Amino acid sequence: MTVHFIGAGPGAPDLITLRGRDLIAGSPVCLYAGSLVPAALLDHCPPGARIVNTAPLTLDEIVAIIVQAHRAGQDVARLHSGDLSVWSAMGEQLRRLKAIGIPFSITPGVPSFAAAAAAIGAELTLPELGQSVILTRTPGRASAMPSGESLSAFGATGATLAIHLSIHNLVQVVRDLIPHHGADCPAAVVWRASWPDQRIVRATLGTIGEAAADGPERTAIILVGPVLGSQDFPESSLYAPGYDRRFRPASADSPFIDKP
Ligand SMILES: C[S@@+](CC[C@H](N)C(=O)[O-])C[C@H]1O[C@@H](n2cnc3c(N)ncnc32)[C@H](O)[C@@H]1O
Repeated sequence: MTVHFIGAGPGAPDLITLRGRDLIAGSPVCLYAGSLVPAALLDHCPPGARIVNTAPLTLDEIVAIIVQAHRAGQDVARLHSGDLSVWSAMGEQLRRLKAIGIPFSITPGVPSFAAAAAAIGAELTLPELGQSVILTRTPGRASAMPSGESLSAFGATGATLAIHLSIHNLVQVVRDLIPHHGADCPAAVVWRASWPDQRIVRATLGTIGEAAADGPERTAIILVGPVLGSQDFPESSLYAPGYDRRFRPASADSPFIDKP
């Protein structure tokens, strides 16, 4: 018996890995995390599967269902939205499972920041404009930020920011970032990326507050950074004709050509 943690992707039901889909199909118990996991994914559950929405449950109640399945020798598919490596609450479940000796596997999923970038047709790293992406959030009712992880500190790096769980806090986000990125810095909000009701607003840091003011206060990524707006960046060396590299030696003298 194994608990399979599966990244369910950002919303579109076909944005799950084949492995994730097959694990759902092979698990007689499926626990899924509320409204962010698309209901269509539950169609992959085998006939007669026990399917439980864990949104109203406590961690103790979730673990009790897993222990029950363990005793019955039944695999569990545990679905969380996006990828499991960020804001999935998987860590606390893994800790419990390790403590009681229940085996688990982890299958990654498409994270919502990647779906948001795809929705606006952007690469989040571009030569000379931005080579780092910071995945972050602002503090919530139940989640303080560790000291040192302030938006202002991240803004000071100038890196591309993908800000989660913060659309309700957009005014403060803008206030914290303008001193570092400037009011003209491109910004975008993508609500429910890849869902049928996906919505996009593109603006600048100076105007995004007003432009996005009438949007829903949930399930959005705020993207900020010069990479979102400028076409003024050099091409990467990767495909440049003169760039000497292992997979495309530029001349007969290239050190990348094996000499007899
Ligand atoms: C609890 S976190 C889950 C993050 C998830 N594990 C991931 O990989 O993206 C929920 C937050 O992720 C973001 N989010 C999740 N799905 C989204 C989507 N389809 N479009 C935009 N933002 C999304 C929102 O910021 C939302 O408040």
